Amino acid sequence: MRAVIQDRYGTADVVRLGDLPRPEPAAGEVVVRVHAASLNGSDRENLTGSPFYARLAGLRRPRRPVPGSDMAGVVTAVGQDVTDLTVGDEVYGELSGYRGALAEYVATPPTLLAHKPAGLSFTEAAAIPQAGCIAWRAVHGKVRPGDTVLVNGAGGAGGAFVVGLARHAGAEVTAVDRTDKADHLRRLGADHTIGFETEDWARHRERYDLIVDLVARRSPYRVHRALRPGGTYLLVGGRTRTLLATLAAGPAIRWLTGKRVRVLAVPQSRDDLIAVTHLVTTGAVVPAIDRVYPLGEAPAAYERLAAGANRGKIVVEVAAGHTGRPTRPPRAGSAP
Ligand SMILES: NC(=O)c1ccc[n+]([C@@H]2O[C@H](COP(=O)([O-])OP(=O)(O)OC[C@H]3O[C@@H](n4cnc5c(N)ncnc54)[C@H](OP(=O)(O)O)[C@@H]3O)[C@@H](O)[C@H]2O)c1
Repeated sequence: MRAVIQDRYGTADVVRLGDLPRPEPAAGEVVVRVHAASLNGSDRENLTGSPFYARLAGLRRPRRPVPGSDMAGVVTAVGQDVTDLTVGDEVYGELSGYRGALAEYVATPPTLLAHKPAGLSFTEAAAIPQAGCIAWRAVHGKVRPGDTVLVNGAGGAGGAFVVGLARHAGAEVTAVDRTDKADHLRRLGADHTIGFETEDWARHRERYDLIVDLVARRSPYRVHRALRPGGTYLLVGGRTRTLLATLAAGPAIRWLTGKRVRVLAVPQSRDDLIAVTHLVTTGAVVPAIDRVYPLGEAPAAYERLAAGANRGKIVVEVAAGHTGRPTRPPRAGSAP
């Protein structure tokens, strides 16, 4: 089968197309013919092996050569003891270990996969899993109408979904990313935008009920000052040392200020995936799709991801199998 292969960590040129044996399902696994896979910030980290937690996939080189965590496709084989999926089912979801999606076939336990809603294309479904589930955990049950929410790293995969969900929950949303993404952030539904190169949101005093930080680099002792009394700061991704400092300082900050400053662990969850997808199928949130590439152009997709040139999700159409220029997305991302 054709697959994207990454033998080592590095820049986008470590990714190449190759051939691998087609997988057979072990007991408790299904094999999915992948139709579409999408790229997240975690794929960029898994490419470079940085931050350090990306090396959980292999200290010196990735243990599993095929990258990609999010995919949508059709079940082609079912292993022993699998009862909830059958051959021909259209499914989508995140893969355990965040790898394996960028190949024509992948063997995976079915526990994280959900039935693809008929109203979504494989391309649209593949764009949801990791980013959608981050946003679901960051926003669901935490935002009330009228709350002020700041999203740091709002122009990326998870941030775009967070902006959409927070707006849907009735919040006033401030989106932070590169200055040249301001138009994109407004199309996502942001009320206010901040270019991180020119303005430091952490200097805003007591302004936000919720801060969702996808690219954390600031001390936990700084970020809490931007929270209103009783507010919450959630670190989703960022530098390892900031993550460790936030884990360590969170309880003391809570005790001293009453504010929550913590790391948000986002479990891979079929239930969360179904819940956030419901918001997509009802039109409450629209996944922001940047570009769609055929599998033959996957190295170019990685170049775009590594350069940070994307505005929303990059999707690779694996089953289409044709080569040629990257195609435009079926629709641009925007939230009501
Ligand atoms: N907590 C969990 O359980 C969990 C689960 C899954 C993933 N994650 C993590 O979540 C993080 C975010 O994922 P993602 O897919 O949303 O990443 P992403 O698509 O790379 O988005 C990050 C965005 O932040 C922008 N950015 C870069 N530097 C910035 C700065 N200093 N200030 C503000 N914005 C900045 C990036 O712009 P450029 O692209 O132009 O640089 C990009 O638009 C990753 O670190 C991932 O590992 C965490």
